[in-house]
Amino acid sequence: MSIRLVVADDQDKLGPLAAAAVLAGLPPARPVLGVATGDSPLPLYAALARATADGDVDLSDSTLIALDEYLGLGGADPRSYTAFVRSRIAGPLAVPAAGVVVPDGLATDPDAEAAALEARIADSGGVDVQIAGIGRNGHLGFNEPGTAFDSVSRVVTLSAPTREDNARFFGDDPEAVPRQAITQGLGTIFRAGSIVVIVRGAGKAAALSAALRGPVSTAVPASILQRHRAVTVVADRAAAAML
Ligand code: GLP
Repeated sequence: MSIRLVVADDQDKLGPLAAAAVLAGLPPARPVLGVATGDSPLPLYAALARATADGDVDLSDSTLIALDEYLGLGGADPRSYTAFVRSRIAGPLAVPAAGVVVPDGLATDPDAEAAALEARIADSGGVDVQIAGIGRNGHLGFNEPGTAFDSVSRVVTLSAPTREDNARFFGDDPEAVPRQAITQGLGTIFRAGSIVVIVRGAGKAAALSAALRGPVSTAVPASILQRHRAVTVVADRAAAAML
């Protein structure tokens, strides 16, 4: 196992530390960056945006490939991951629309849309660096407990805990959270050259401990990280408390 653990002593340092880990894994030209949504990676995106604004980093020739998207939400919906990737990542990093790959949550054939995501990743030559967060139940992307480690991009049904966790983006109503999503598979994620996982807050401490220190098991999807050759986990003190 080769997981590098970086614990940020204060929240201001977490973003720059994560950004350094991401940039270290990117080739100098035409990088393929796998991007995650959620609150956890926001300091990372802010740090990359600052470095871009300062002229220290130019990722405008990147391809950004999303981990997942809710079914039933279009890109015009601010709660969609398409909207998140555009506003929080592509915009600040000056990546043009042609370089942004997020499955269409309104696709008439979601299975075909998921297959197209898998094909698009292969066509890109593979993800150089995958950014990820971890769900409180140990999920990675929307790969819920029980997902096969060799799974590919597909349509999934979200678990009750995941819909509860994400209810904060839907007026605190778990029933308003879409029931299904398209996600990259665990096997898809595992093929990335390196993976940078951002974990913040006491609420994630048990999940992080199970993922990194527990048995490698489909019961904890993120435990697959223990088998990857190049993972960096950037955590704050609260999330790292049980390691
Ligand atoms: C969602 C996403 C995951 C993300 C997780 C954690 O379920 N599909 O990719 O890692 O939320 O989100 P947060 O960082 O907001 O806790």
